[in-house]
Amino acid sequence: MLLWSVWSVTLLLTALEAAEEDDVRAGCSTAVNDLVYIVDGSWSVGFSDFDTAKQWLINITSQFDISSHYTQVAVIQYSDTPRLEIPLGKHQGGAELIQAIQSITYLGGNTQTGRAIKFAVNHVFSSSQRANLVKNRIAVVVTDGKSQDDVVDASMEARAQGVTVFAVGVGSEITTSELVSIANKPSSTYVLYAEDYTTIDRIRDSMEQKLCEESVCPTRIPVASRDEKGFELMVGMNIQKKAKKIPGSLVSETAYTLTASTDITENTREIFPEGLPPSYVFVATVRLKGTSSKLPFDLWRVLSKDKEIQAAVTLSGKDKAVTFTTTSMTEKEQRVTFKAGFQSLYDGKWHQLKLLVRPRHVTGFLDDQQIQEVMLDPVEPIYINGETQVSKRRGTSVTVPVEIQKLRLYCDPHQSERETACEIYSV
Ligand SMILES: *[C@@H]1O[C@H](CO)[C@@H](O)[C@H](O)[C@H]1NC(C)=O
Repeated sequence: MLLWSVWSVTLLLTALEAAEEDDVRAGCSTAVNDLVYIVDGSWSVGFSDFDTAKQWLINITSQFDISSHYTQVAVIQYSDTPRLEIPLGKHQGGAELIQAIQSITYLGGNTQTGRAIKFAVNHVFSSSQRANLVKNRIAVVVTDGKSQDDVVDASMEARAQGVTVFAVGVGSEITTSELVSIANKPSSTYVLYAEDYTTIDRIRDSMEQKLCEESVCPTRIPVASRDEKGFELMVGMNIQKKAKKIPGSLVSETAYTLTASTDITENTREIFPEGLPPSYVFVATVRLKGTSSKLPFDLWRVLSKDKEIQAAVTLSGKDKAVTFTTTSMTEKEQRVTFKAGFQSLYDGKWHQLKLLVRPRHVTGFLDDQQIQEVMLDPVEPIYINGETQVSKRRGTSVTVPVEIQKLRLYCDPHQSERETACEIYSV
């Protein structure tokens, strides 16, 4: 009897712990999306390519946790008319959904893409049982040909209803201008092309990353003439409010100086409400003098409630190294250290440090020069119930004085090529 109650208490505790964990790890898999696939089933596709299209949809869905709490998926196949193959929220669990997608039978017919989009907006998204909870409403239109009806009105209606539309064009029969009008702007983000169905697997990573960015990067950073998805930490972390303004690397630039008494700490939930995307670009323009050029410190870190590192960029002037820490599926955390190439970062002048983080590797740059690429083990979503901090001594909450001009995370890995270090005089 006693044994039994100890056992059940243990079970109960484990269940509680698990519930709490579920609640706070956030990333793509836990995004709250209504995701609707609108897939071309016209004659031009053919039986075998239609099967490939289904497999591709299954593949790009695998990064999401399919459940009533997180992502719900619907599938519409269309030709002359749209057919609702899988209603939103019908399947709880990935395995069931995969089976349902696999058993969709090919329709055949003409291509009325506009009509299918209208159907998705008016009958599928609107039927969601959790309209108030859903964070992102996303449609992915996969087509291989020119539509026989108008797509402009339907797509405008989708946007008016807050639905983000991706257009995936397959093969040589597609019309670029049509895909551009179907998709959201900028088309460089929302339009994807595959040469044919046999090579559609090549745009899988790109599609997964974009779906993920859409899910976990709610904010935009104005850069040049475009808005990039990302996190402007100078503002989000209140650095501009809490630290003193100083002249930056160029006359046109402003920077901020953190003293030992400046505490830059925010709740991670406020900064990264949906966690971090699988790929991102970390950019920091800093000047390291005194302590910050000697002692190791975390320029940026995300901590769990128990102060375990979920993500961090650590600078160490003593050994002229830069260390990136992230989560790991198998260990408590994983760290990679760039040992060579970052010497000048510690020379007391302004420099731009950039880390391009990808699912399986991280690349370090200094003032636009690529330093090194290092492999990573698979990572886990981060805990968001702790704090995010800037310029803290490793393992403590002590601020290390530092001068910061730029501190950002871009969600699109391609921003790594666009983001130049032209604010650095020598570049
Ligand atoms: C789906 O993923 C599997 C396993 O990664 C891969 O072998 C296959 O080519 C992919 N298929 C498509 C159509 O993307």
